[in-house]
Amino acid sequence: MLTVKQIFDLGIKIGIASDPRGVQGIKKYLARQKKEYDDLKPKDKGFFDRETLTNPFPDSGIHVDDGKSNVKMVMAGIDINAPEILLASQLNERGKKIGLVIAHHPEGKALGKLHEVMEMGVDIGMALGLPVHLAEKIMEERMREVARSLSAANLYQAVNVAEHLGINFINAHTITDNLVHTFIANLIAKRQPETIADLMDLLMEIPEYQMAKRLGFGPVIFAGTPRNRVGKIMIEMTGGTEPSPKVYPELSRIGISTIVGMHMRKETLEKSNEAQLNVVVAGHMSSDSLGMNLFLDELEKKGIEIVPCGGLIRVSRVKKGKK
Ligand SMILES: [Fe+2]
Repeated sequence: MLTVKQIFDLGIKIGIASDPRGVQGIKKYLARQKKEYDDLKPKDKGFFDRETLTNPFPDSGIHVDDGKSNVKMVMAGIDINAPEILLASQLNERGKKIGLVIAHHPEGKALGKLHEVMEMGVDIGMALGLPVHLAEKIMEERMREVARSLSAANLYQAVNVAEHLGINFINAHTITDNLVHTFIANLIAKRQPETIADLMDLLMEIPEYQMAKRLGFGPVIFAGTPRNRVGKIMIEMTGGTEPSPKVYPELSRIGISTIVGMHMRKETLEKSNEAQLNVVVAGHMSSDSLGMNLFLDELEKKGIEIVPCGGLIRVSRVKKGKK
């Protein structure tokens, strides 16, 4: 049994351990946050979100916490909106004991700050060999675009329902995207697929992608042929949301041949095609499910029961490990 805060802190811990920036990169990020806070004028300090001094994932947060619940059962979903919060409340009326709802995609303040987490894309680009000025300029423009689109959003609808019904509510976005990113990166590093067909076969060994294929949304080759060699792969499973289309010709220029992502917009695919890149889209809900499952397994190990909803394909790896 854990409290809401303990569950969220566990998420932050495993999210940091899997972060492509590395522990040092996270430390530098938090130091930049602290400097920004320290340099603020007193009248501005009250508007600074002090949580960002310790939580390096601005798109993940605690939205409702009664501060006293010991959680034995968690409802988890990729997208949690007002109906899913109502569902948790109704299931509790019928005897379930859901002590916490965990969303993957951000809600409330975490949704309003989604663009902030995209800064990590600069670190990812630099690690691949992109010059820092290019990575920063391209990302800056895309972050502003995402921030503009979020400024019009109704951020707190689901949070408001959770507050009324007294349902504890958190979300873990980049936290679990980091888990799937590292999981896929390690798998590819270990198995070294040679062709796109080999890469697809490797993805199809993962139960979430098998289930997604049965349900009609399995991995797809967006660009390239199965016979193409994969060359140097860029895994694009974390970093908030899709980067700017402008980054793809640059990636091609520094030697990337294949992109493995969760999803890809039309304009991004067009740029990738212009850059002659191979593109494998593993699937959005299935990849998000894989990341969430790796987090939820840690809760299951502590005796917490998981109730999946909101598009989550729940696969537990806990029992397999015990055998
Ligand atoms: Fe997602």
